[in-house]
Amino acid sequence: MSRRSHSRSPSPRALKRPKFDHLTPEDFKNGVFLAPMVRSGALPTRLFALKHGADLVWGPEIVDKAILHAERAVDPATGVISYNGKTRAMFTTHPVEKPYFIFQIGSSDPALAVQAARVVMHDVAGIDLNCGCPKPFSTHAGMGAALLTDPDLLCAILTALRAAMPPEISVSAKIRLLPSQEDTLRLVERIVNTGVSALTVHCRTRTMRDKDAALVERLREIVDFVAGMGRGIAVIENGDCTGAEDAKRIRDVTGAHSVMIARGAESNPSCFSPMPLYDIERTLSPSYIRVSKYLDNNWGLTKFCVSQFKGKHVDFDKAAQKHYRQVLNGTKGFDGLEEIVGAWTGEDDFREIVEMIEARPPRSHAAARAETARPVAETPVEKEPSQDPPTSTPPDTVNPEPPGSGAPFMLALQHLDLPMLTGGDPLTPTPGGGVSVVTV
Ligand SMILES: Cc1cc2nc3c(=O)[nH]c(=O)nc-3n(C[C@H](O)[C@H](O)[C@H](O)COP(=O)(O)O)c2cc1C
Repeated sequence: MSRRSHSRSPSPRALKRPKFDHLTPEDFKNGVFLAPMVRSGALPTRLFALKHGADLVWGPEIVDKAILHAERAVDPATGVISYNGKTRAMFTTHPVEKPYFIFQIGSSDPALAVQAARVVMHDVAGIDLNCGCPKPFSTHAGMGAALLTDPDLLCAILTALRAAMPPEISVSAKIRLLPSQEDTLRLVERIVNTGVSALTVHCRTRTMRDKDAALVERLREIVDFVAGMGRGIAVIENGDCTGAEDAKRIRDVTGAHSVMIARGAESNPSCFSPMPLYDIERTLSPSYIRVSKYLDNNWGLTKFCVSQFKGKHVDFDKAAQKHYRQVLNGTKGFDGLEEIVGAWTGEDDFREIVEMIEARPPRSHAAARAETARPVAETPVEKEPSQDPPTSTPPDTVNPEPPGSGAPFMLALQHLDLPMLTGGDPLTPTPGGGVSVVTV
């Protein structure tokens, strides 16, 4: 494992954190989101997606049992939080993404799903259940797309998560279409009744492959159906969206509240911007690699993600592309890449990302603005008074703190002189709240 020395949490709570802008069901509307992607949805990709306009980011699916056996550690230099297994980090996150970060669980057991969610809930804004992965490693254990044919279990997991999570943690699900629309609607109805805040529909069936065109034309009926249930749940389209501009087309076609992008973002994490970067090897990759090194992202994972980048070339000619690939492929680690990444350390790139994320308007304002700017494609329905538990954050509620995290992110990054760190709540160490350092 390549991770640096880490502070071990739980240690006594040391610092006061700023208040977080909690997710409400409205935050799943009018957005373009980064899809969950194993490997490709690594922390640097999520940060760059946020920098370039993604409204929310999903993490790669993590199986419940894996997270239960992981040890949480915080890098005092950067604030990166790692959930470490025996030989590697199962997943990493950073406090700066927390208000926008949805953690996706793979599970086939309500009790395990709840235990896993409890482990990570202090570091995330929401929990999503993967009900769409068609790969045998997922389905043979009853997870992923296997849940589509076991709606009792699927809904039991969502119900258990909703009951166990505090209201400020959203619960959502990502499904695929069932072969018949009637069965899909029946399933959707049950899912919506569990109290989820949002439902993502990957518009392919379990047997369809990525190369098969997504069946987006089936989504409008689902969107209308959910609207007719009157619970205000967001329906998120997923499948074949290439970027921010294309998301508008998909919303027009489907009526979906929001759109989620996977492969488009894997190829170019700046696709969330109305003006995505081109010549990406020159414009985005160097910064991506610098940030990855600064955040101690695993080199193999970094190289994999960077090698997935592709897109339009304007000034970066064939010879430059070839040279870039040779340098990238010729190195076994971060060293030796100066020629394509320029000066290290990545701290400035990271500071820029943090500043851009921090500069976002409060989410409720953004949602309200988008709501007035864009007509919502659903019919208003008289809403029955709801008996459900609240799924939005009561005003002035602060997310629960990590168990004694001591928020070393705040301490370690004070030298960056960022507004999020210098303004607002004072960063006051709690008596006895030192940072113990452990090598993992
Ligand atoms: C590399 C990769 C990894 C993926 N991992 C996950 C995952 O962890 N969880 C999940 O629900 N879907 C996963 N997916 C599926 C995507 O989230 C998405 O549903 C699918 O790619 C369709 O979206 P797209 O057409 O925008 O690519 C993955 C897809 C790719 C390409």
